[in-house]
Amino acid sequence: MRIIGTGSALPKKVVTNDMLAEFMDTSDEWITTRTGIKSRHVISDENIEDLGAKASRKALDMAGMKPRDIDFFICSNVVTEYMTPGLSSVIGELLGLTCPMIDINCACPGFIFSLDIAESYYKAGKVKNVLIACVEEPTRMASWNDRSTCVLFGDGAGSVVLTAGDNIMATRLHAEPAADKIWQKRKLVSTPFITKEETEFPLQMKGRDVFKFAVNACCHGMDEVLAQAGISKDKVAYYMVHQANQRIIDAIINYMGEPASKFPVNITDHGNTSSASCPILLDECNRKGAFKKGDILAFSAFGAGLLSAEAVIEW
Ligand code: COA
Repeated sequence: MRIIGTGSALPKKVVTNDMLAEFMDTSDEWITTRTGIKSRHVISDENIEDLGAKASRKALDMAGMKPRDIDFFICSNVVTEYMTPGLSSVIGELLGLTCPMIDINCACPGFIFSLDIAESYYKAGKVKNVLIACVEEPTRMASWNDRSTCVLFGDGAGSVVLTAGDNIMATRLHAEPAADKIWQKRKLVSTPFITKEETEFPLQMKGRDVFKFAVNACCHGMDEVLAQAGISKDKVAYYMVHQANQRIIDAIINYMGEPASKFPVNITDHGNTSSASCPILLDECNRKGAFKKGDILAFSAFGAGLLSAEAVIEW
């Protein structure tokens, strides 16, 4: 497939580190040094589905397509107010889509998992035009009393439209299942038959374990996916790495021995927007005119699961 449209949308409320320091025991200095984050966009009176629809309309406009032209819609999302229907259906209705649509919950690498699914369906001859929307509100997951997690996240949506082409050169999906590294539990409705004890708690994270997994998975994943695509590092124009933490990105730059200028970042004013991170970064770079035709982009993302994924794309 080939990406022919990108779009993104962010909540209007911007929360700076200093604003956080007004109601929790933290500081701009701590957050900036440990994460590189200065501010993040946070949902206030918006609905996340509206941001998903807005990002998707921008991607459709750039692609010169109407909703009826799309024959498959993949929505990547971790948490939404809707338990059913899937967020794809909620956004699909707003957009006026009539094609089949599915939700995936692959946490932060959800965009690359979606690319892999789109490419596989395309190669199987089932689809031609695919819309992917990564639509996330992780600020609704972490406890705002837990300074070690809530400062890391921001909300937003990023979309792409793909059509027939041979620009996805390789994808690689990876899993090291461990539910106790990043997780959140909610209680379902009780029934007369439930005898087990159930608990509900906000997002929990073993930050240091996740940090190590992220650096390891990205570095090895990049080596593997580039080998699979037959591309050497010097041919890569940009490494589009999940914007989780500047220190994670710095460690990856260090291990890969590639110039920092090849790693675009927007973590400073977005925080970690989960699976929306890569497509938001892609859209921002694209709209700034950062890419030229033929540029090789290497994507990598990692997160809960633990899951990670990479993709090599010719622009
Ligand atoms: N402000 C001030 N102090 C804070 C703080 C905050 N927002 N959050 C934690 N601290 C404190 C801790 O309480 C601890 O204090 P103590 O030594 O008195 O107990 C101290 O800072 C060090 O905490 P620690 O958790 O060991 O820090 P760290 O260096 O591991 O950094 C993370 C924490 C979360 C920034 C880091 O582990 C990380 O980036 N992990 C990856 C997270 C991630 O990206 N997850 C998403 C992946 S998709």
